[in-house]
Amino acid sequence: MTHSLKKVASALMISACGMLMVPAAHALDEEAARALAKQNNCLKCHAIEKDKDGPAYKKVAEKYKGKATAEAHLIDHITSGEKAKFPDGHEEEHKIVKTSPPKDMAQIKNLVQWILAQ
Ligand code: HEC
Repeated sequence: MTHSLKKVASALMISACGMLMVPAAHALDEEAARALAKQNNCLKCHAIEKDKDGPAYKKVAEKYKGKATAEAHLIDHITSGEKAKFPDGHEEEHKIVKTSPPKDMAQIKNLVQWILAQ
């Protein structure tokens, strides 16, 4: 009796540890990415599925699929204010992402990884 209870208890402990270990250090934080996109009005010009003024994030993810430089390129795109071409043909500087604290690379990286995961 005590022996089998012990067995159950240790099985429970092992599965509890397993659950704690799933969201490992570098897992994508989707909620944080969405929140940052929202705060920065990215979603005013972008949607996940549909093109708005800017391309759908699904399309962006597809375009950069398997490209080793995708992450670095998109980090540059949303931090440098490079020229962006709008559907009506005019060009303006693309929005620069704002984080708190400023220029927090971990948050910017997470946002880009989220876009690339669409
Ligand atoms: C005022 C509208 C507008 C806002 C706000 C905006 N974007 Fe864009 N975005 C665009 C347009 C237009 C393009 C297309 C640029 C081009 O193809 O020249 C674009 C392109 C992109 C691309 C694709 C770049 C590539 O190389 O293919 C990404 C990724 C992106 N935006 C992310 C973001 C993020 C993240 C934010 C918020 C920090 C944001 N955008 C805010 C209009 C906007």
